[in-house]
Amino acid sequence: MARRKLVAGNWKMNGDLAALAEIDAIAAAAVANPAVDVGIGVPATLIGPAHARAPRLAIGAEDVHAVDHGAFTGSISAPMVREAGASFAIVGHSERRAGCGETDADVKAKAEALLRHGLAAILCVGETSDQRNAGKAVATVTGQVRASMPWGAASGWLSVAYEPIWAIGSGHTPTLEQISAMHGAIRAMLTELLGADAASMRVLYGGSVTAENATELLGGPDVDGALVGGASLTAAKFVPIIEAAAALT
Ligand code: PGA
Repeated sequence: MARRKLVAGNWKMNGDLAALAEIDAIAAAAVANPAVDVGIGVPATLIGPAHARAPRLAIGAEDVHAVDHGAFTGSISAPMVREAGASFAIVGHSERRAGCGETDADVKAKAEALLRHGLAAILCVGETSDQRNAGKAVATVTGQVRASMPWGAASGWLSVAYEPIWAIGSGHTPTLEQISAMHGAIRAMLTELLGADAASMRVLYGGSVTAENATELLGGPDVDGALVGGASLTAAKFVPIIEAAAALT
């Protein structure tokens, strides 16, 4: 089945009001390349201002709490980011799994919160270099998919982002063979879990995607888009990735 490519940015803990000037050119590129879906995950403080500045661009949160409201000091919930203008959220990023101790069960509960509140989800999975060197990459990643996929997941609202931890921010990327083997394994697991509904679910690649390697990485079989960190911070680096994805459609 033909799936629309999604190019999503992840600003992580970067960006201030001045940086929102980058959003203008990114929003313009999204309009100019209608064959591709474009989104930007920004720090919670920027969701409202980014949405106000570019109302037609999909603005995302980088995390949400699994619960809607309550005594969780410092946390932000799915309905809160939605009210601020987010239309999607990233959950299960390796920086949160490792740095904040998030388990597959936590990630699943967060994805379920997004589903309840009508937000699209980008659910991240990925192996460490030790796991890959031990021959456990596929088992690790498919295990994460199985354990963090929310109940009721169906159709195009959720994308899985395969992000090998050793490729994030490192300038190292897997070979095309490694990516396509992993994406094939993820798709097989999605089909096992969701049956025919898996066919419309996108599997993105993330980790050191740049304008230079986007055509190669996004052109692989079963690669339905990219989750981009560092190269999403400026329009000069991010727009060529959107254009590369569009050229592949
Ligand atoms: P990177 O980050 O593109 O800077 O490697 C990707 C990510 O962490 O989502």
